[in-house]
Amino acid sequence: MAKPQKIRVAVNGYGVIGKRVAAAVVSQPDMSLEGVSDVVTDWRAQIVLRNGFRLFGATAESAKEMRDAGLETAGILDDLLGQADVVVDCTPKRIAAKNVETYRRRGIKFIVQGGEKHAVTGHSFVAECNYASAIGRDATRVVSCNTTSVVRTLTALKRAGLLQRARGTLLRRATDPWESHESGIMNTLVPEPEIPSHQGPDAQTVDPELDVVTMAVKVPETLAHLHYWSVQLTRKVSKDEVLDAFRRSSRIALINLTDGLVALNSVKELMADRGRPHANLYEVALWADMLRVQNDELFYAYMVDNQAIVIPETIDAIRALSGEVRDGSESIARTNAALGIEPSLVHARVDEPLHR
Ligand SMILES: NC(=O)c1ccc[n+]([C@@H]2O[C@H](COP(=O)([O-])OP(=O)(O)OC[C@H]3O[C@@H](n4cnc5c(N)ncnc54)[C@H](O)[C@@H]3O)[C@@H](O)[C@H]2O)c1
Repeated sequence: MAKPQKIRVAVNGYGVIGKRVAAAVVSQPDMSLEGVSDVVTDWRAQIVLRNGFRLFGATAESAKEMRDAGLETAGILDDLLGQADVVVDCTPKRIAAKNVETYRRRGIKFIVQGGEKHAVTGHSFVAECNYASAIGRDATRVVSCNTTSVVRTLTALKRAGLLQRARGTLLRRATDPWESHESGIMNTLVPEPEIPSHQGPDAQTVDPELDVVTMAVKVPETLAHLHYWSVQLTRKVSKDEVLDAFRRSSRIALINLTDGLVALNSVKELMADRGRPHANLYEVALWADMLRVQNDELFYAYMVDNQAIVIPETIDAIRALSGEVRDGSESIARTNAALGIEPSLVHARVDEPLHR
């Protein structure tokens, strides 16, 4: 029997998200990374080659600059697009919207990231919520890190029949670690000027039924975001019932302060010790022992690794667009297995099956 064809993937933009997407694609047995395209010529381009990936210039001009800098290039983005089934655009905010014209002209399926608007693709994606509606589409948008976490957690509550409405306050990291010499804030907190902040309405582009309002503040650190949520439940429930609802999502990891996971940096350190690439925390890390239920109201807090949370979603989005895997839970299981997403972040084994 002929071996099934792998889904051929191109990554345009090898920055914070692009480099993680490229590594995640390589780890999937049913995908191949055809190459990476960018505009830079410094260590960031050199590492593409060192990692064994083919490097393409985004334009003829950038390919020439790369060659002038002594970098071995395999051509330009247009060449790469001719060799791939799906392109994942990980260029900075609003550049992807311009690239879309090229993708459409070439007839290649494409994924944009959360810096772009919903209208760019007309479809916004979170695997556990709406995988099915992305199957076979030409394009989708993997929503931002914060929005991904909001949809994952509220979908878990909704599926258990517990969600009435949710109100969240988001403490947002000021900048990414590798860029912290260039921007970021110190010794202050900067409130977002509008309520609701954009993440609530953005979550509704994935699930219009969600009754959700978000408020946000920028905080002077770079590791991750921290969310505080207050949820009106549909009825009085026990804490166990709520925890069980969250446990049914494989991409929400329940953590405990009593395990020493008392802050964002301790969770990140745990991910490094587990040997995750870039110390990636792909899951929403939600404090189970802190979570409180008061009659029909629920209160909880969680951590979002903004650099990592959208990586498994992007891998599932590739499978959905390709149409190769029609069952969302099958794709999620494959992605989880390849990325090392397991029932517990801390414990080596869990006796109870947590994901049902
Ligand atoms: N950084 C995060 O935490 C985060 C989280 C979720 C989603 N996102 C979204 O992911 C997307 C990418 O963000 P990022 O943080 O990875 O950006 P980044 O600045 O870290 O990386 C962008 C990469 O694209 C390259 N690039 C610039 N112009 C290009 C062009 N014309 N053609 C090809 N490559 C080009 C840059 O050289 C860089 O390597 C954005 O939509 C962003 O909103 C970012």
